[in-house]
Amino acid sequence: MRVSPKVFYENCYGKYAIPAVNVFTMEQVHALFSAGEKADAPFIVQLTPAARNYADPRMLEAMIKGAVKIYPKVSYAVHLDHGDETHALDAIASGNYQSVMIDASHEDFVTNVAKTRTVVKKAHASSVVVEAELGVLSGVEDDMSVAEELAKYTQPSQVEEFVALTGCDSLAVAVGTSHGAYKFSGGKGIQFNILKEIQSRLPNFPIVLHGGSAVNLVEIDRINKAGGELREDASGVPADEIVQSIAFGVCKINIATDTRLLWTRVHREFFRDIPELFDPVIPGKVYMEEYEKFMLEKFDLFKATGKSSQLKH
Ligand code: 13P
Repeated sequence: MRVSPKVFYENCYGKYAIPAVNVFTMEQVHALFSAGEKADAPFIVQLTPAARNYADPRMLEAMIKGAVKIYPKVSYAVHLDHGDETHALDAIASGNYQSVMIDASHEDFVTNVAKTRTVVKKAHASSVVVEAELGVLSGVEDDMSVAEELAKYTQPSQVEEFVALTGCDSLAVAVGTSHGAYKFSGGKGIQFNILKEIQSRLPNFPIVLHGGSAVNLVEIDRINKAGGELREDASGVPADEIVQSIAFGVCKINIATDTRLLWTRVHREFFRDIPELFDPVIPGKVYMEEYEKFMLEKFDLFKATGKSSQLKH
C-alpha cells in the first residue's frame, strides 16, 4: 500500500526508523520491494535527479508501479531525494510521489527558507509532504560533491524558525554524517549533542539522517581483492550509532552507497570468477539476492521488521 511518509513518521517516531533507499535500476527496485514484503517492513523508495536523468523518470516510476503489482503487501512511499525546484515541482505535478525533498541547504538561511516555502506551498496543495535540509553535508553523491571544509553542522538555534517559516514536514540535518564511502575522516561520528538539542527544540518532529550507509569494510576488501581500487580509509556509520539516533527523533535514514558497493562487489567477483560469461541476467540475479539479504538486515537494525502490518493510519 502507498503510505504518506507523514503516517510512517507518526508511527515510528522514537521507536524505529524507515530506510529510504536510492534506486537506479530494475534489480534494485525488485529486491527492495521483495525485501520489504518479506520483512513486513515499511520503506521509502527514493529517486535523485541523477537517477531521473539517467533512466528517465517515466521509466523509474513505471518500474515502481510494476513492483507494487508484484509485491502487493508492501507499505511504501515514493520520494524525490535532493530535488532542486525544477525536479521537485515536476515530481509533485506527476502525481507519482508522496514526498519530495527540496535541497537548498547550500544557500543562505533566507534563500533556503524562500525556496523551501515555494515548494511546500505547491506540494501541500497536492497532498505531497516535503523534506527540507538545514546545514550542509560533505561528501560525494551522484553529481553532487561538497568538500569537508564547506560542510556545516545544522545550528540548533535556527531549526524552530526554519520549520515555522517553511512549513516543511521533516528536516534533514547535518550532524556529522556525509554522503559516499569515505565518511568521518577524523573519526568524529554522529554528533549526538547537536541531535539532542535539535530534538529538544523540535519535539516529535521527524528528523532525517542523510549519509546512513554502513560502508562494510568486508565489502571494500572483497571489491579490492577482485580488482577494485577503493581507498583503505573508507568508513560509514556504525550500527550502534544508527540505533542510538532513533531515540533522538531520527525517523528516516538514507542509504545509497551500500547498495552501490554491493553492486560493485557482486559484479567484480562474478566476472573475475567466471570470465567466460557475458550475460547480465546471471550476475543480476546474484545482486538481487544479495540486495534482498542486505535490506532484511537493515530492516532489523532499524527495528522496522514486522511494522508494516502494525501501521496505524
Ligand atoms: P550514503 O552515501 O551514506 O548511502 O547516503 C545516501 C544519502 O544520504 C542519499 O540522500
